[in-house]
Amino acid sequence: MSENKISIENACKYFYGKERRGAASKFVAIRNVSLDVREGELLSIVGPSGCGKSTLLDLLAGLEPLSDGAIYIDGGKVTGPDLRRGIVLQGYALFPWRTVRENVEFGLEIKDAEKKEMKETSQHFIKLVGLEDFADKYPHELSGGMRQRVALARALAYGPEILLMDEPFAAVDAQTRETLQEELLHIWEETRKTIIFITHSIDEAIFLSDRVAVMTSSPGSIKSILSVDIERPRNSDRATAEFSSLRREIWSLLQNDAARGDEIEQEYCGEKAV
Ligand SMILES: Nc1ncnc2c1ncn2[C@@H]1O[C@H](COP(=O)(O)OP(=O)(O)OP(=O)(O)O)[C@@H](O)[C@H]1O
Ligand SMILES: [Mg+2]
Repeated sequence: MSENKISIENACKYFYGKERRGAASKFVAIRNVSLDVREGELLSIVGPSGCGKSTLLDLLAGLEPLSDGAIYIDGGKVTGPDLRRGIVLQGYALFPWRTVRENVEFGLEIKDAEKKEMKETSQHFIKLVGLEDFADKYPHELSGGMRQRVALARALAYGPEILLMDEPFAAVDAQTRETLQEELLHIWEETRKTIIFITHSIDEAIFLSDRVAVMTSSPGSIKSILSVDIERPRNSDRATAEFSSLRREIWSLLQNDAARGDEIEQEYCGEKAV
């Protein structure tokens, strides 16, 4: 059995489409991604837009099948969605017709939890994300930061072992974002879940993570994995020498890749349509 919580082995994802004149096209979204994530680790993934980060997360969540390679969780192959994996997607993705409490209870309903347990659990997580006073409000009555907290509480409420987060804080203002980062760390320290966190913010990745995986431009693969050996709790002004040096390193990895990006031609295979 694997000692890692998650093992991604040469994961590839191709999307097939039709080009004009009927030829089939094959688009390589990610290529040979290999990555191990330890139990209880908080690992961030950064990479250029379109390099396949969300695609990788969909594979991890079991929402999309792999085209090649394999993903193992606790040594077992991922073959489909599983409630052991909580997902907080890009954007808020709340149900607009459900209140905060009803949104948070969604996963518990699927699990057929008892009414009392459902109420207690949702209460606990709504409190954990600081929304006690908003439990009966609907998403449109909340700010962006609050909606993001609901999405986080909903993912946490059904007790997943792994949290998969896709740019969860991208749509909120800088100050709220920092608060949410602190809250996530607090929750992580309390629950010790394994977290994969996708972000476009290098600072966010460094501030949160044990390690940062940098992806290449499309088709994405893992370019480099850096350990963040900065003691916690980390300085929230993010201005220490260690922080700056890591920031520079990640930035230059991304820059080099952006320069190379124009030269990398996307792979289209002009296979004949059947
Ligand atoms: N269902 C699909 N069918 C065809 N192509 C797809 C599909 N989903 C994603 N792609 C393509 O795969 C590539 C990777 O997309 P993905 O959404 O994973 O990128 P990303 O790294 O998350 O980008 P961003 O940082 O902008 O969110 C893109 O070129 C996208 O157009
Ligand atoms: Mg994405």
